[in-house]
Amino acid sequence: MNNDLAQLIRSKIDIVDIIGEKIPLVARGKNFFGVCPFHDDSNPSMSVSREKQIYTCFSCHATGNVFTFLMDYEHISFSEALKSLGERVGVDVSGVKTKKIVSKNEKLYEAYELALKYYQNNLNSTIGRSAKSYLGKRNITENLIKEFEIGLSLDKRNDLTTLLTKKGYDLAVLNKIGLVNDDYDIYRDRIMFPLYDVSGRVVGFSGRIYKDTDQNKYLNTKETEIFRKGELLYHYHVAKEECRSKKSVIIMEGFMDVIRASSIGIKNTVALMGTALTKEQINLIKRLSLNIYLCLDGDDPGVHATLNIGQMLLDQEIEVKVIRLPNPDDPDSFILKNGKEKFENLIESALNFSDFKLLKLREKVDFRSDEEKANYINTVIKEMLKINDPIRVEVVLKRLAKEFDIGYNTLEMRLNSLKKEVEEPKKQVVSLQIPHKRKDKYTKAVEQILYFMLNNDWVISQVEKEKLILPNEVFRLLCNEIIYYYKQNGFINIADFYTYMSEKEETLVLLKEILASGYNEKTTKDELFQYFKVVKEYSHNQEIKRLTNLMKKEVDPLEQAKIVEKIRKLRMGE
Ligand code: CTP
Ligand code: MN
Repeated sequence: MNNDLAQLIRSKIDIVDIIGEKIPLVARGKNFFGVCPFHDDSNPSMSVSREKQIYTCFSCHATGNVFTFLMDYEHISFSEALKSLGERVGVDVSGVKTKKIVSKNEKLYEAYELALKYYQNNLNSTIGRSAKSYLGKRNITENLIKEFEIGLSLDKRNDLTTLLTKKGYDLAVLNKIGLVNDDYDIYRDRIMFPLYDVSGRVVGFSGRIYKDTDQNKYLNTKETEIFRKGELLYHYHVAKEECRSKKSVIIMEGFMDVIRASSIGIKNTVALMGTALTKEQINLIKRLSLNIYLCLDGDDPGVHATLNIGQMLLDQEIEVKVIRLPNPDDPDSFILKNGKEKFENLIESALNFSDFKLLKLREKVDFRSDEEKANYINTVIKEMLKINDPIRVEVVLKRLAKEFDIGYNTLEMRLNSLKKEVEEPKKQVVSLQIPHKRKDKYTKAVEQILYFMLNNDWVISQVEKEKLILPNEVFRLLCNEIIYYYKQNGFINIADFYTYMSEKEETLVLLKEILASGYNEKTTKDELFQYFKVVKEYSHNQEIKRLTNLMKKEVDPLEQAKIVEKIRKLRMGE
């Protein structure tokens, strides 16, 4: 373990900066809060402490220091996290060995890398001339071709198959990973767009036709071990850097849209690529920014998808903004026709999702029918229940009152009565901070003592003086580790102690549990002694229990009497 090095690097880094780069954080009191990336949520249940340099999720109980955050967030090893943070703050980490975790999928990634190079080569040689001219006509410049690593598969039976088998790949493997069918290339004579996973590795392709043919426009890699369509979004690996500075993310339908937007410098984009939005994808998007724009195609399916996706996110209390394109434009065609400035104007005038929804509802109403009008008004009022901003609600209701010549009070009364109807069941929603397990008072007392020890040096010496015997082996282990660490360093620092504990799995679980349970930090002697008393009472009762059992099993009456006497003395408090 590189404990000293870790301590040095950690002391030069603020965990708030590092986590803040990955997820949006807001300051509240002395802590910072954000949406926890380690479980499915939209509430800011993760707190990051600048003072302690640790993070804690009160919902899923994820906790740790800056190293564990990076390890879990980026799926890297401890040494990799150490190296990356060390390099960042200028600490010499050349001695740190990072044994790359060679995953069983490494060979698959490699095959994709090879295929990518092969396709790119084709496009850039004379054989790629007509594909190049197609791309040229679509205004896909050389720069874009490079940036998006666009390539070309050839009109040959098994060019790629031969290449890869020569490199030692099994036909069976190539079949499994979606590059080869039997013994011939799946992709033939298509412009190849590589598809990336969230860390930017090529894991699939989408091949587009570029000549007159009745084949499907796009041919996509099938689901494989490394290509899970529901768990990735096109361009995510780039967007994850861009969204940080732009503080927003734009969701588009196709990768052509993303490529076009990039050509005018808008790179905080991801594309859905024709799939319905999954829960995993929503979580990915939320990591980029909570300021989400939807910019789907301007045709009917696009509007329909906007309503669906917007609603899915609204159900998670995220209101997206809708960038509206004229029918039947998509971002690609709109930008080509109208240019950068016009597109930026569209972004500027994006509508809140609920306003967009009302607009769409309104378009469908036949205003000659009183029934339809009344239905429409009622639907609008119901929509208002979901909006937290009272000013917006008032604006909408006033507009409605004016438009349909109905008293504002009538509308407000209707809203209030609807509110009452839905409020009752809402009360049952449980609070976030209820600990996930019920603990008895002894467990609580011990955990609180251990937490005090981690926060206040003087408690450690008190615990030593008391010669407390903690119930349960793991409690004792953690207690001893804290004491040992304190003696080694002369002080205790939770974030560094965490690194020190990282390989002691069993005890680490307890440490995490304690950190995430929201115990008090600062203590008085009186309070501490109260907890000591509880623990002693527990040990006392345990001892009586043990002796009572022993006595019941004892056959020798003389021995039995001795035990009874012991129990009596204990009961008397001797
Ligand atoms: N798509 C697909 N298969 C199809 C059509 C579409 O996989 N037959 C996916 C592609 O990932 C595409 C996205 O859905 O990027 C959006 O489809 P579409 O709007 O038709 O694609 P465009 O971006 O408009 O492509 P192009 O401009 O080349 O026609
Ligand atoms: Mn499109």
